[in-house]
Amino acid sequence: MNRIPQTGARAAWRSLPAAQQPQWPDQVALREVVADLSAAPPLVLAEECDRLTERMAAVAAGEAFVLQGGDCAETFEGLTADAVTAKLRTLLQMAVVLTYASGVPVVKIGRLAGQYAKPRSQPDETRDGLSLPSYRGDAVNGPDFTERARRPDPARLRRMYEASAVTLNLVRGFAAGGSASLYQAHQWNRGFLADSAEGRRYEELADGVDRALRFLQACGCDPAGLLEAEFFASHEGLLLDYEQALTRTDPRTGAEYATSGHLLWVGERTRGLDDAHIAYFAGIGNPIAVKLGPGTTADEVLGYVDRLDPDRRPGRLTFVVRMGAGRVRELLPPLVEKVTAEGARVAWICDPMHGNTVQTEDGRKTRRFDDILDEVAGFFEVHRELGTHAGGIHVELTGDDVTECLGGGDRVRAEDLHQRYETACDPRLNHRQSLDLAFRVAELMKA
Ligand code: TRP
Ligand code: MN
Repeated sequence: MNRIPQTGARAAWRSLPAAQQPQWPDQVALREVVADLSAAPPLVLAEECDRLTERMAAVAAGEAFVLQGGDCAETFEGLTADAVTAKLRTLLQMAVVLTYASGVPVVKIGRLAGQYAKPRSQPDETRDGLSLPSYRGDAVNGPDFTERARRPDPARLRRMYEASAVTLNLVRGFAAGGSASLYQAHQWNRGFLADSAEGRRYEELADGVDRALRFLQACGCDPAGLLEAEFFASHEGLLLDYEQALTRTDPRTGAEYATSGHLLWVGERTRGLDDAHIAYFAGIGNPIAVKLGPGTTADEVLGYVDRLDPDRRPGRLTFVVRMGAGRVRELLPPLVEKVTAEGARVAWICDPMHGNTVQTEDGRKTRRFDDILDEVAGFFEVHRELGTHAGGIHVELTGDDVTECLGGGDRVRAEDLHQRYETACDPRLNHRQSLDLAFRVAELMKA
């Protein structure tokens, strides 16, 4: 039995080349999982996605700022209440720092509840003469270098769906259940290093938030919006079988939505204009993003505008730029100028992580806090010069005290990296480094 909708615009991408898709050895098992997921409840609703599009329209108009962050790759093992809560608290702390400093609303988007699949530069990995499929994220296979672990297993797609649902459940409870109330701003720092410079700086800022709240209350003003945080979920829409299985028709309008997350992005490795990913994204109504690396041409960018946002709907399309600290000042201006001239109202976001990955002498992937900061600074400079809006940041971070990136508030040194290097993929900012970055970006926003 095959309940997978294969016809119509929905599946137009199926006839196109799709980069970075796993070679599933068991096609029957794949079809079964996809059929199950096609009948499963959606993880997010179309109206929530539309609300995010509205928020992103404010970003595109220069009236709001995006904070998008979370792990490079989520893992099933890493899905614990503590880990998710620490990530949420970190993001809320950063959001409060950015909002308080800039007076601009911050759109909070987690890189979570679905970030389980990774594109890889090589399909296979060879160690001591043995070649096995590369690890493509927990949605596909396991990280251990054994034949069994590396074999792509469609049952993992079901686990991805379940893990995403569990994570979203925590996120929704945290965001709406009182924990994310602005009256809790001090609590988000609890258990983190309160005696660090960033921790103290945050405590001072939270005091200011408290005073402002007491003032408002004294004036008879106590809006309900203070008690709940608005929080959205995003991930790279990489595995098209999974995304297609979770695509649903919005009964209000008949439009199709990816219901695996509010915002999906197309990665740097799958953004071929005539390829399957762009075709799939063209067919969904969600707010979407495209990652742009240093090789991006202006024609490609105009192509994305034409195909992904033909109606020029503000908030529909976001470009996440990851050029590298050394190149953003030179490569970004022509792209922004062309898009602006085209009349598209897109949001521009800076991913200062992926263009700044380096290897240490002992072969570990890491990133220098100063390079990250420099790329964000360059991104702001470009927009200031062009009179456009630096719309936000997209960062890889965790609420834990890992040692994966160098420098920042934590002054992590190369010889410290081994202490807590736990990422399943790229190096993440730890809690202190994340807070430090938020304070620095807040200064850029004020400048
Ligand atoms: N509801 C508003 C928002 O989500 C204000 C808010 C409540 C908030 N809790 C927050 C803002 C935590 C930042 C962080 O933006
Ligand atoms: Mn990454």
